Amino acid sequence: METNLYARLANQLTDQIREGIFEVGEKMPSVRQLASREEVSIATVTSAYGLLEERGWVEVKAKSGYYVKRRSEDRLAAPQPCRARPKPRPATTSQLVMEVQREAAANSGVSMSSAIPALDFPIINTVKKLYTQLARTQQYLGVGYGTPEGYYELRQQIARRAVDAGIFVSPDAIVTTAGCQNALALCLRAVTKPGDIVAVESPSYYGLLQMIEASGLKAIEIPAHSDTGISLEALQLALKQWPIKAVLSIATFSNPLGCSIPDERKAQLVELLVKHDLPLIEDDIYGDLYFGDKRSKTIKAFDPDGRVMLCSSLSKTVDPQLRVGWMMPGRYFEEVMYHKFINSISSPTLPQMVTAELLGQGAYDRHLRQARETYRQRFGQLVDLINCYFPEETRLSRPKGGLVAWIELPKQVDTTALYHRGHEQGISIAPGELFSISGQYRNCFRLSFAQGWAQEREVALRTLGEWIKEEL
Ligand SMILES: Cc1ncc(COP(=O)(O)O)c(C=O)c1O
Repeated sequence: METNLYARLANQLTDQIREGIFEVGEKMPSVRQLASREEVSIATVTSAYGLLEERGWVEVKAKSGYYVKRRSEDRLAAPQPCRARPKPRPATTSQLVMEVQREAAANSGVSMSSAIPALDFPIINTVKKLYTQLARTQQYLGVGYGTPEGYYELRQQIARRAVDAGIFVSPDAIVTTAGCQNALALCLRAVTKPGDIVAVESPSYYGLLQMIEASGLKAIEIPAHSDTGISLEALQLALKQWPIKAVLSIATFSNPLGCSIPDERKAQLVELLVKHDLPLIEDDIYGDLYFGDKRSKTIKAFDPDGRVMLCSSLSKTVDPQLRVGWMMPGRYFEEVMYHKFINSISSPTLPQMVTAELLGQGAYDRHLRQARETYRQRFGQLVDLINCYFPEETRLSRPKGGLVAWIELPKQVDTTALYHRGHEQGISIAPGELFSISGQYRNCFRLSFAQGWAQEREVALRTLGEWIKEEL
């Protein structure tokens, strides 16, 4: 019996119960029926039902079979926004960031720390084929440098897709980069100088905090709500009090909360930017991964005068190995181009050609449809697993897209200690302290739900739950 197969079947049945296909009290398909329908062994179905019983979804009635015991009973509250008063600080990020990054790149054990896409989508084969084909058929070597703005056909594809995010932009106003991180760094450099204060959401992706540190800037952490993102009220107060020079926002399916700023608040945020004459760098790397029926608008969609600089890449939708990203720097185009030029002159052409071809084909949209549905289901499964294995005081954010969620535990649980314990046993999480520069979130951690809940991942989550309970 393949062990992952029964876990997969159990997850499928759980989804059917959660969606009301089987009602509470109703009899589930018999072991034989299911084995023949799914073309798996009796032992696989029995183990899948055993798992559902253990998780409290079904109960056995002697000589009759399995019956639905409950529908999704979700008792987890939402994480609380941070209460510390926003104050500018030098961004000193810990050594732990590099340690967590290295561990994630080593790809050993059970990694729930890194925000990378699932590894088993067919799009990866399409990408490999495109690399082989385009390397043979296209002239990309022996032609000198590529244009500093980037491969035109790719910029054209990005401009076409931007319409869905409410942005009408010419390919000439887009610049390609080596991933989103590179785009963010170039935009930040274009609008700040060392010593300036930059406003960030709190908790915030540690890559942004590191970048602020490396640029000699100060950060001011503005509390974010786990559902609606950055607090505009807190931002407004901070703007009155401090000479903030730029705002950085992961407005849609943020990392780490997974929250999104609702459209009307995005419009209000832009009004605030106009009032204080400020630029905003929008990191839209997760924007395409919505679980609902349509993409939400970007902050850039409300931008009246080119002050919003949008950055993104294919690292979360396809593969971070591509290292293809882009930016729409608006009115800061020339400054950004200057920094791109002094940093790298131009970007390698082959990955851009592959990406242009990928975006132009229906394959990318088909892939996104599959990825969104897969991640939606995997998040639902995570909610069940946390309900089942973690203490009831656990709080969990509810992303409506993206790849990551945020967990808050009772104050006495130290997630850095939990990280070190996991490290020894081959389980990795991203501890909360990485996401703040003021020592907050020591009782929180970020969890990625992109990979399937195979048995070893479920066992790792259960083990984490047991360790947490020991601390209470
Ligand atoms: C919010 C956010 N922005 C940027 C990045 C980095 O993107 P890239 O790999 O395209 O440089 C990440 C990666 O984790 C991220 O989560």
